Amino acid sequence: MFVSAVVPAAGKGKRLGLGVPKPLVEIAGVPMLIRSLRTLGADQRIKEIILVVDKKELRKFSGIVLKYRLRKIKGIVAGGVRRQDSVRNGLKHLDEHSSLVLIHDAARPFIKKEIISRVVSTAAKYGAAAAGVEVKPTIKRVDNKNRVVQTIERNRLFEIQTPQAFKKELILEAHKKFSRVDVTDDAALVEKLGHKVKVVPGSYFNIKITTPEDLIFAKAVSRVIE
Ligand code: CTP
Ligand code: MG
Repeated sequence: MFVSAVVPAAGKGKRLGLGVPKPLVEIAGVPMLIRSLRTLGADQRIKEIILVVDKKELRKFSGIVLKYRLRKIKGIVAGGVRRQDSVRNGLKHLDEHSSLVLIHDAARPFIKKEIISRVVSTAAKYGAAAAGVEVKPTIKRVDNKNRVVQTIERNRLFEIQTPQAFKKELILEAHKKFSRVDVTDDAALVEKLGHKVKVVPGSYFNIKITTPEDLIFAKAVSRVIE
């Protein structure tokens, strides 16, 4: 199987608020981007990795990739305004032999090989798969005056993560057809096509680094994840 990995790393990291690109922020001495690139590169079925970065930071990212002697990086390409624009730019560079595309956010440094494997196998079978974990808190919807309008039944509610994987034709079609719709993950575009996305177990360690406190949690996770 020829799986291509697309890694969106072109965000501004606004909520983290440091002066450097978020994917290059170090966790226990290793840039967070490097952590997932290593794990992705070690997977037998992943044959190429396309890294999508902020246009202005192309040189900086290229330097880091060289420094860490990462395997399987086939291209470092410029991202777009929204996450989905960055992914779409990455999708333009897929190898013609590729049959499956795995998409993984640079902001999630703690993926495990088991999750990659699960997502790839499930997407190969069903066409589309996303890692997810059961929601632990109680979730309520409120109105514009912060009054509760609904308590959403937690049963069957999942928090969706990356990696997500799709058959190539499916993800290309979804990104092409719904480029004007704003979404926060790729599965949402495939759902809009009417195709079922299967959720497979992710991990509570597979956190996304979004705000400064996540860096404190990340340091703790880095100690137990190896
Ligand atoms: N991303 C991207 N291109 C964009 C926006 C986001 O490639 N135009 C990537 C980020 O680099 C990250 C992932 O998508 O790996 C998830 O986005 P998020 O966590 O929101 O990161 P940022 O957009 O960088 O952060 P913020 O929203 O706080 O600015
Ligand atoms: Mg963002």
